Amino acid sequence: MSTQKILYQPNPEFAAKAAIKNMDMYWKLQNKAIEDYEGFWKEFADEKIDWLAPYEKVLDESNAPFYEWFTNGKLNVSNQCIDRHLADKAHKTAILFEGDRGDVERISYAQLSLHVNRMANLLKHEFNVQKGDRVVLYMPMIPESAYAMLACARIGAIHSIVFGGFSSEALKDRIEDAEAKIVITADGAYRKGKPYMLKQVVDEALTQGGKSVEAVLVVKRNNEPIEWVEGRDHNYNELITSQHAECPFELMDSEDPLFLLYTSGSTGKPKGVQHGSAGYILWAQMTMEWVFDVKCDDVFWCTADIGWITGHTYIVYGPLAAGTTTLMFEGVPTYPDAGRAWKMVQDHKITQFYTAPTAIRVLHKMGEDEPKKYDLSSLKVLGTVGEPIDPPAWKWYYETVGNSKCAIVDTYWQTETGGHMISPLPGATPIKAGCATLALPGIMAEVLNIDGETKEVGEGGLLCITKPWPAMIRNIWGDPDRYASAYFGDVAKDGQPVYFTGDGARVDEDGYITIVGRVDDVINVSGHRMGTAEIEAAVAKDDSVTEVAVVARPHEIKGESIFIYIVLKDGHINADIKNHINALLSSEIGNIAKADHIIEVPGLPKTRSGKIMRRILRSIAKGEEITQDISTLEDPSIVEQIITKAREA
Ligand code: PRX
Repeated sequence: MSTQKILYQPNPEFAAKAAIKNMDMYWKLQNKAIEDYEGFWKEFADEKIDWLAPYEKVLDESNAPFYEWFTNGKLNVSNQCIDRHLADKAHKTAILFEGDRGDVERISYAQLSLHVNRMANLLKHEFNVQKGDRVVLYMPMIPESAYAMLACARIGAIHSIVFGGFSSEALKDRIEDAEAKIVITADGAYRKGKPYMLKQVVDEALTQGGKSVEAVLVVKRNNEPIEWVEGRDHNYNELITSQHAECPFELMDSEDPLFLLYTSGSTGKPKGVQHGSAGYILWAQMTMEWVFDVKCDDVFWCTADIGWITGHTYIVYGPLAAGTTTLMFEGVPTYPDAGRAWKMVQDHKITQFYTAPTAIRVLHKMGEDEPKKYDLSSLKVLGTVGEPIDPPAWKWYYETVGNSKCAIVDTYWQTETGGHMISPLPGATPIKAGCATLALPGIMAEVLNIDGETKEVGEGGLLCITKPWPAMIRNIWGDPDRYASAYFGDVAKDGQPVYFTGDGARVDEDGYITIVGRVDDVINVSGHRMGTAEIEAAVAKDDSVTEVAVVARPHEIKGESIFIYIVLKDGHINADIKNHINALLSSEIGNIAKADHIIEVPGLPKTRSGKIMRRILRSIAKGEEITQDISTLEDPSIVEQIITKAREA
């Protein structure tokens, strides 16, 4: 029997105390959602959200696909995450910070309130940041990043975090697209025992463009020397102390944008995924309670970076809305040794640990028995996200890290979905390794064909969400047409456009959904999502390159790696082409876009109408036999030449 078929039953002791204790409870909730969709969501919105003015309608579909949830309701997300907890949790740790060098700081809800209020006043009064203004954060994993997010939420500014691994060029593009008024950054931070720098990337970005930016607020973390632009740059550490400790929050509409987060699509430039306020925070909190089953005294650790959606929803917004303690870690889980993560679990008595399959594979490879050296008995739930998890990694995570007693929640979701969509519930769902199992209650996930028909059991198809949900993407910043076409342009069910995820999936005989991976031109390297078109556009900037095609190749640790085919212009010979192209990718996008394989080929396989046959290139990169008919190619002999080159690579 394959691991895939084994059902791992929930731990009965855990299930007895879980929010969702068994499959009957799951089906009761899901059936309620099926029978009375708006009633289902109303119940939770009324129970969970601290409404400052009531909403008038649960779901407004009149302007589909621009759905509106909890119309005209008023709330403030920073109130939901901080103020409302102060009555009974003021002294409870909200953020537990561990620095790269092992320094630990505990920030209580009362202290978090003070920091956020001061930062909100700083933004509002010193920099005139108003409701609706965009604030770009280019920040390390330090508590000030969370303060900045929540301060923006407090005054109604829209934050847009750019992952600290992106290059100045990528940062500039995102600043310009959002027309940001201010950038918040840090001098740098620490990684693997050494300081690293961020501020200079902001300086470069603002030299290249980003004219909308009026000020740069700099948090001093490592105090390394940095350039300073007088009049533009401001020292957070100096300014913050004189700020007033109270900043009344703005009354925000349910649909007011909370943040933008740029992500890659299959075509063109990155998209500014726009999330709203009420629906997003509701689902962030509900999924913390259902999927991670957080309880009052839990210490939750999500290892993502705040620059990705996982960091937004499951380091900051979800845990704080749920009133739990969230661990924020500056460093990497393998430094100073392969036991760092497990030592932290032991030291902080972590109850839920949430990471990516790539990290699990690295930790496994670096120290198979390392978890056994530590007391990991505090762990209750283990989570994975971002890419399919392979059975060996799953097994190690379950047996060695979780001591065969913790549920593994394989959470499937996306930047656009705001929170989890398909995942086991740790007290209820019998689990199959490497399978995301069932859609969460309230989420209508279906595997369809392009005509919206349901696929047979076991057949691969397109993973669609057939009803709008509260935490869904609201728009692509500044590009509503692209929003409608990118997500609702491909599949219609019963004549109605439905949200297509871009992923392929299949449903098994138990109704369980297994994610197969992207079916569009998006690749996933170590859980980082990148568009092949974006990478191709960067490579094409090299003067010696005439044609380029980018595909994914399976990778033992990273899940997928980048494989690039280039055709050089006549007469160009470049012995160092790999380093050259990788340097270009690093400066245009960031180090995450560097390719493992770059091969120079005499031409690309094209049809007579000039279309590149990417399927052939994918097969070659994977080392597969070419089974498709190549006789219709403009030059069939090119395939053999490319195969030879690929073998040499
Ligand atoms: O392909 C799916 C994969 O990650 C994509 C979303 O990437 P991003 O927006 O960067 O968000 C990542 C973190 C939520 C999806 O379209 N993906 C995400 N979770 C899983 C997954 N693939 C398989 N299994 C998962 N659990």
